[in-house]
Amino acid sequence: MQSLLICGLISLVKCWWDLGHMMTAQIAKNQLRNDRPDVLAWADSLVQDLNNLTDGRTNSFVEAAVWLDDIKETGTSFLNDWHYTDKPINPDGLLIKIEDQGRNINSIYAINQATAVLTNSKTAKYRHTMFKAQMLRVLLHVIGDMHQPLHDTTFWNDTYPNGDAGGNFMKIQLKNGSFVNFHSYWDAVAFTMVSNTTFMSRPLSQSDHQNLDKQSNDIINKFPINKYQKYDMTNPTVWSLLGFRQAQQFVYPMLQKSNTFNSDYEIQAIEFCQENLAIGGYRLAAKLIEIYDTILQNEIRLSQVQ
Ligand SMILES: *[C@@H]1O[C@H](CO)[C@@H](O)[C@H](O)[C@H]1NC(C)=O
Ligand SMILES: *[C@@H]1O[C@H](CO)[C@@H](O)[C@H](O)[C@H]1NC(C)=O
Ligand SMILES: *[C@@H]1O[C@H](CO)[C@@H](O)[C@H](O)[C@H]1NC(C)=O
Ligand SMILES: *[C@@H]1O[C@H](CO)[C@@H](O)[C@H](O)[C@H]1NC(C)=O
Repeated sequence: MQSLLICGLISLVKCWWDLGHMMTAQIAKNQLRNDRPDVLAWADSLVQDLNNLTDGRTNSFVEAAVWLDDIKETGTSFLNDWHYTDKPINPDGLLIKIEDQGRNINSIYAINQATAVLTNSKTAKYRHTMFKAQMLRVLLHVIGDMHQPLHDTTFWNDTYPNGDAGGNFMKIQLKNGSFVNFHSYWDAVAFTMVSNTTFMSRPLSQSDHQNLDKQSNDIINKFPINKYQKYDMTNPTVWSLLGFRQAQQFVYPMLQKSNTFNSDYEIQAIEFCQENLAIGGYRLAAKLIEIYDTILQNEIRLSQVQ
């Protein structure tokens, strides 16, 4: 029941976060374009496989990062749990029911499933299959979600005895006086990254693509990759735990100081989100390289057997 509610709320706000997903994918793309164009070409060709079966808004590597949100509109609710991991933050030590302490079907599971399908040795002779095309799009999306810290936790205290659904039940007051849901605030990168009818709406125009490319390079230059390589670049369990810690150490504590608009919070939140977009992009690129290299090894093994 609770997860139905969470997903309903998340899908209401999804469009605000399109840009965050596309940025993550663009940052990965720019990394791969330099380091491993072969991996980018393979991933892009898997994206193209579904173009005639989708609605025209996800025909590129970058736009395809939003596909897993788009399909919610088409009744594909069985994948809703793949967007987040709800490891509890529980400062008052409430008794949380076992089934609410973290489900097994979550974003970590999604990444591991996608990796298993893409690298399966039984299908090694088919570089393209229907499920590979879908799972590539899952990776493009869920790795982005994992870098929004409110997708890595749920907060519990006496005010939220059933959890806050990753900030969906909390409110934050914006500069203009409006109250918005805390999860949405973060999904929209503190409301600095909201697409509208003329700006970054999909299908993207040529100039939108160029704009994203430029903004991504700015973020890459501001947060260079070597700073982040000390952590495991390809393990989703590690990524999720790091996101959980960010929520615990920064995202929620800042709110506790003041749940009305706070300009320091906004400035820090924007900086923080930009850095997470960079890290998410780097990890997405690293994961795609790891998968593609496994595929190449499987193919070599297969050719030796024959
Ligand atoms: C997609 O559809 C177009 C128009 O029907 C067709 O020309 C094209 O070959 C199709 N592409 C694939 C990959 O099936
Ligand atoms: C629960 O946490 C929220 C957010 O920090 C806070 O506003 C609220 O007062 C807390 N409730 C209790 C009962 O401590
Ligand atoms: C305040 O800003 C938010 C985010 O930009 C917007 O959705 C909301 O409509 C605005 N509210 C008012 C009263 O202008
Ligand atoms: C859309 O967003 C862009 C960039 O933030 C802004 O320049 C433009 O005025 C907005 N257009 C509309 C119709 O809100």
